[in-house]
Amino acid sequence: MAESMKGLRRTHRCTEVSSSNIGETVTVMGWVQKRRNLGSLIFIDLRDRSGLLQIVFDEPKVGSEGFAKAETLRSEFVVAVTGRVEKRSAAVNENLKTGDIEIIASDIRILSEAETPPFPVEENSQTKEDMRLRYRYLDLRRPDIQRNLMMKSKVAMLLRNFMAKEGFLEIETPILTKSTPEGARDYLVPSRVHPGSFYALPQSPQLFKQLLMCSGYDRYFQIARCFRDEDLRADRQPEFTQADMELSFVDVDDVIDVNERLLQYVFKEAVGVEVELPIPRMPWQEAMDRFGSDKPDTRFGMELVNVSETVADCGFGVFTSALQQGGSVRGINVKGQGTMPRKKIDKLVEFAKGYGAKGLAYLAVNEDGSYKSSFAKFMTEEELKALSEKMQGEPGDLLLFAADKNKVVWDVLGALRLELARQLDLIDKNQYNFLWITEFPLLEWSEDENRFMAMHHPFTMPMEEDWDKIDSDPGAVRAKAYDIVLNGTELGGGSVRIHQDDIQEKMLEVLGFTKESAYEQFGFLLNAFKYGVPPHAGLAYGLDRMIMLMMHCDSIRDVIAFPKVKDASCLMTDAPSVVDEKQLDELSLSIEVSEEKEQ
Ligand code: AMO
Ligand code: AMP
Repeated sequence: MAESMKGLRRTHRCTEVSSSNIGETVTVMGWVQKRRNLGSLIFIDLRDRSGLLQIVFDEPKVGSEGFAKAETLRSEFVVAVTGRVEKRSAAVNENLKTGDIEIIASDIRILSEAETPPFPVEENSQTKEDMRLRYRYLDLRRPDIQRNLMMKSKVAMLLRNFMAKEGFLEIETPILTKSTPEGARDYLVPSRVHPGSFYALPQSPQLFKQLLMCSGYDRYFQIARCFRDEDLRADRQPEFTQADMELSFVDVDDVIDVNERLLQYVFKEAVGVEVELPIPRMPWQEAMDRFGSDKPDTRFGMELVNVSETVADCGFGVFTSALQQGGSVRGINVKGQGTMPRKKIDKLVEFAKGYGAKGLAYLAVNEDGSYKSSFAKFMTEEELKALSEKMQGEPGDLLLFAADKNKVVWDVLGALRLELARQLDLIDKNQYNFLWITEFPLLEWSEDENRFMAMHHPFTMPMEEDWDKIDSDPGAVRAKAYDIVLNGTELGGGSVRIHQDDIQEKMLEVLGFTKESAYEQFGFLLNAFKYGVPPHAGLAYGLDRMIMLMMHCDSIRDVIAFPKVKDASCLMTDAPSVVDEKQLDELSLSIEVSEEKEQ
């Protein structure tokens, strides 16, 4: 039977009690983690969000009624215990913050009983994630998840502290809004008042924060919820949180400066990590050439080597035809793995194919200097030697090559490099390698749409020195855009924005907007710019990703209280769900599911 709190007051959280309280009477409240009966004594571990505390029930001290209650306790019962803090009678438990003390109960109330939970509430749960997410309210009781969410709260506070000190104003922007140009699919909300019209949930506060600059707010900041209907991955959720900012009268270096100090402050205060400044910067082209990725993990080597020139005239058709079609041949040197069994290499080939490779060529340098290779028969001894030398191949090394369009080669070798580092355990998990990627291409060719798309978004400023190429070679124009990368994850990104109308008009033209379509989509921004716009720039961090990296989580779901699963549903609430006819009628909607989708 559940008892009331009447007259009771919690004096401490479980781990706020310490040996300095010995002799005092305290009242603690929480969940029963575990009960052990030792004949005349009953022990429980009491749990709250701070941790565990041992309670001892001894019949002469707690009374026969209290002792009888203690006998009925089971895991997850909610109790209030009053008692005296004493030095632990048995050996000190080094693993517990409160391992040197215990509470000798003088009173107990059972505030709520609990059914047996479907899985034990414990650290590092082995329970399947589906199950945990269905009962997320229980899963959220686990100490590891609680630590993650407490860290998120702390980081949000640190960010606000820092931003306030630097003169940023926290301003909210709408959730029911119009499509924002971040390139993912929008989530739409039907309007009741305007039948057939829809709001879009914001993919980011991008346009509003630019308007705030037009309005003179100078420095804006927001911890903003964003929504993107895109394929989910371990570091992507359909709704996620950005730490978002925009600044007026600044250029690239100003944004980088304030953000470097922000990162230094937040990482030091949150997790004790010293971020050395300045954070290195690497142009996008160099990142692609060396790491095959615009978010390189620089905690290990195995960099890509372009061997196109070396193999230009060789006899291996796979290589030469890729070059003839404007592609490249690049390789990585997997040090000391020359004896990797064929089966394992075949697995790497399959892995590479998953990233679009047509194949993966290998060359192992044997201890006697001879070669074992999937393409040796197509090359002369000299050609093989030149290739190996270019790769700095030494006896015992395994050289892997991909030949294709640059984009495919980068994707394949970039992914392979990470996979091999994981397999070979080359990554020091305690290292924090921050890196700015700068000078991104302004535009990206879309095969699907057969046109250029903005790589960041249509309001990103081109680099002055490249602007004259916008007609002759649009793909070669670089942007004043920057990403901050941590250990191979894109933590945040931003850009300097266009504030000159001639550049903006040209940019929209290159992207295929007519004047009408541009005004229809973001006329409010273009109009606002006519009334005096300061030069401005900004950046947004993925806050969930930041916490994920700080806490070494494998999944973004571990840092979000109520996350969605891969198909964007919530296993606990069953969202999204069918709504009743009345609601649809009010919204002037009718549903027709095509047969194809139903299957
Ligand atoms: P961008 O699209 O690069 O930039 O997003 C900024 C950061 O948000 C995080 N992020 C995500 N996190 C979790 N799940 C997702 N689906 C997801 N998508 C993005 C990433 C990313 O670096 N308005 C611009 C910023 C600007 O230019 O100021 C923007 O949204 O960590
Ligand atoms: P094939 O002549 O297709 O049997 O290929 C010979 C070797 O080259 C095999 O090891 C293939 O995996 C590899 N290969 C095929 N296509 C490519 C490619 N585009 N890049 C690198 N290696 C490839």
